[in-house]
Amino acid sequence: MEEGLRAYRKTEEIRKKNRETTLKTSDFIYPIFIEEGNNIKKEIVSMPGIYRFSLDQVDAELKEVVELEIPSIILFGIPKHKDEEGSESWNENGIIQRSIKHIKKNFPTLKVIADVCFCEYTNHGHCGVLKNNDVDNTLTLINLRKQVLAQAKAGVDMVAPSGMMDFAVREIREELDKNGFQHIPIMGYSVKYASAYYGPFRDAADSTPSFGDRKTYQMDTANRMEAIKESQADLNEGAAILMVKPALSYLDIIRDLKNKFSVPIAAYNVSGEYAMIKAAGKNGWIDESKVMMETLLSIKRAGADFILTYFAKEAAKQLRNNQ
Ligand code: PBG
Ligand code: ZN
Repeated sequence: MEEGLRAYRKTEEIRKKNRETTLKTSDFIYPIFIEEGNNIKKEIVSMPGIYRFSLDQVDAELKEVVELEIPSIILFGIPKHKDEEGSESWNENGIIQRSIKHIKKNFPTLKVIADVCFCEYTNHGHCGVLKNNDVDNTLTLINLRKQVLAQAKAGVDMVAPSGMMDFAVREIREELDKNGFQHIPIMGYSVKYASAYYGPFRDAADSTPSFGDRKTYQMDTANRMEAIKESQADLNEGAAILMVKPALSYLDIIRDLKNKFSVPIAAYNVSGEYAMIKAAGKNGWIDESKVMMETLLSIKRAGADFILTYFAKEAAKQLRNNQ
């Protein structure tokens, strides 16, 4: 009989031996939303299984994350008080700073990454300081320094600026170094598209812009060469990790970066991507857990070293069961 490529697929054992990509729990970064207040554990309607927690309610969730051996979380804070500039984001007793302190104290093995942006903190929902109805880059950079310094002082392990301001990584790197935080790496949301897939997140983080959209700062969804330019700029400015966001409609971009650069690449499997799989799964239209694993695997195969995903806990359970 002629032997062809089907020889690689004969049995599960052979398939396993020939498998080129494998997911690991240590690939995952799990996003957590913390809202200022007490007694809050509110499920996000469009993101089943994902909650907004107040700090007094989040320990069980964190315990589970640690038990599942998910190494890192990324935190989003939702303050009570919002203003024009988002000043709660650099309040040393603000929700995110208190959360970082609490988590590092009670779950010291968990790596805590802080999202650095203003849209959850401003009363207009844009990612920085407004001037003439647009986000002003220079004014926003000044506040970015304050926010990141407050997070560093609280004990954060890594910071991830997501606002797509020019020179954000340069400013943050300088501010951290100047204050003795040379050891804190920056994960740039280097390639972040102006995507409609962020919809559910904006409900979760209460960060929908009150007017307009984010197209003057987030990237045009049609562009590929620009992703290289954004990444190169972030690397020159001191980024340790590059991120592509969203993941699924941008697998080509993940691969481009993986081929071109030698730093780790992260991909953000965003809220809309999660919501679509959950919705179809709930309807019985797809096998949700299989589609979840196939999706995460595709992101890794595209070239992601880290995957930020709301599926982290469920996928970690699957990986554990399949061992
Ligand atoms: C805020 C931010 C957003 C996400 C992460 N950080 C939303 C946005 O830019 O509007 C999206 C995450 C997701 O959709 O899961 N700058
Ligand atoms: Zn933002």
